[in-house]
Amino acid sequence: MLISVSTASGVEAVTKREIYKLLGVEAPSINGRITFEADYKALIDCNINLSTASRVYIVLAQFKCCDFDTLYDNLYAVDWKAHIPENAKVIISPKLVDSKINAFSATQSVAKKAICEKLKKQYKTNILPESGKTLEVEICITHDFCQICLNTSGESLHKRGYRNLYGQAQLKESLASAMIELSVWNPSRPLVDLFTGTGTIAIEAALKEKNQAPGLKRRFDFEALNSFDLKLLEQAKSEAISRLSQEKPLKIHAYDIDEKQLNLARQHAKRAGVADIIEFHFQDMASFKSNQSRGIVFANPPYGERLEDRPMIEKLYKDYASVRRNNPEWCFYTITPVTDFEKLFGLKADKRRKLYNGRIECCYYAHLAKSNKK
Ligand SMILES: C[S@@+](CC[C@H](N)C(=O)[O-])C[C@H]1O[C@@H](n2cnc3c(N)ncnc32)[C@H](O)[C@@H]1O
Repeated sequence: MLISVSTASGVEAVTKREIYKLLGVEAPSINGRITFEADYKALIDCNINLSTASRVYIVLAQFKCCDFDTLYDNLYAVDWKAHIPENAKVIISPKLVDSKINAFSATQSVAKKAICEKLKKQYKTNILPESGKTLEVEICITHDFCQICLNTSGESLHKRGYRNLYGQAQLKESLASAMIELSVWNPSRPLVDLFTGTGTIAIEAALKEKNQAPGLKRRFDFEALNSFDLKLLEQAKSEAISRLSQEKPLKIHAYDIDEKQLNLARQHAKRAGVADIIEFHFQDMASFKSNQSRGIVFANPPYGERLEDRPMIEKLYKDYASVRRNNPEWCFYTITPVTDFEKLFGLKADKRRKLYNGRIECCYYAHLAKSNKK
């Protein structure tokens, strides 16, 4: 079957690399989707193991589509009973880009009708109860080319299941993971999260140290599909568990000056099963000075949403710059939407990449230590 993995803008290359490491599959990324042929076990593996992906879909059909009749006929032709249980509630999510079909609600009703009519015929019934699990079918039409995709993840994969408490301006787990994947860090190198908030970067790094699959503790929509085979899920989970690292992990250090945020971070770390690896410091990051000569700092500093925050932001970023000067052999990775960050930090970055934290456009800056510059 055809599988399609969606990922965030700026992160495509990282997700591609993860897929290659996991399945040995090399596939191109088009419009934020990495699509390839694979079996059901691979679909489960992707859901459980990919740390930077958003969702995993089964592509049920793809065809040229310029009108609603073609859309209806191709949707009706799909063997929906192979996946969708009789009592499921199917919701339709159209994604329409530069195409003749550009009416969102008309696409939803045509697609819903085609799928329900086919299911009624297949289940030999006049009424579908819709009392069971909600499942999502995406209708993606780009330049008149349509892909019908069944969402097998359900909620976005950044929801690992460890974060049930929300703080201020936290990063998505998948973005924090991508930041780490884009850095020179590996589990044998010291890591510090200087503005930890709810602990996302520190926890994602700890999961990587343990080589713990990010989706091990959550549920997925594929578990409700007719095509689902529990044995494959059990196999995928036990394989993931067998890959857990046996190495003694290095302690990760995380700083914040807000005790409430730190409490959330501690609870999340506990729920993620990594509380033993992370040492949380109720301390100003300006006091950070490591006895390790080399390591990696990650930083997601406050960015000041209001104009009157600006003097505080300027001072904070300058203090952060002095942390770098005091730790000259450390690499500094910073994500912020503050556009003059390099000026405040007093140093041009070695690398920059545009990333989105939800809808906020940010830049991810890498300031490398001399020994890491090529
Ligand atoms: C944008 S939030 C970080 C969110 C975090 N990445 C997460 O996913 O939850 C910035 C954090 O920096 C903390 N902070 C502000 N000034 C600080 C300082 N001088 N030292 C350490 N932490 C500070 C704030 O309390 C806040 O929790």
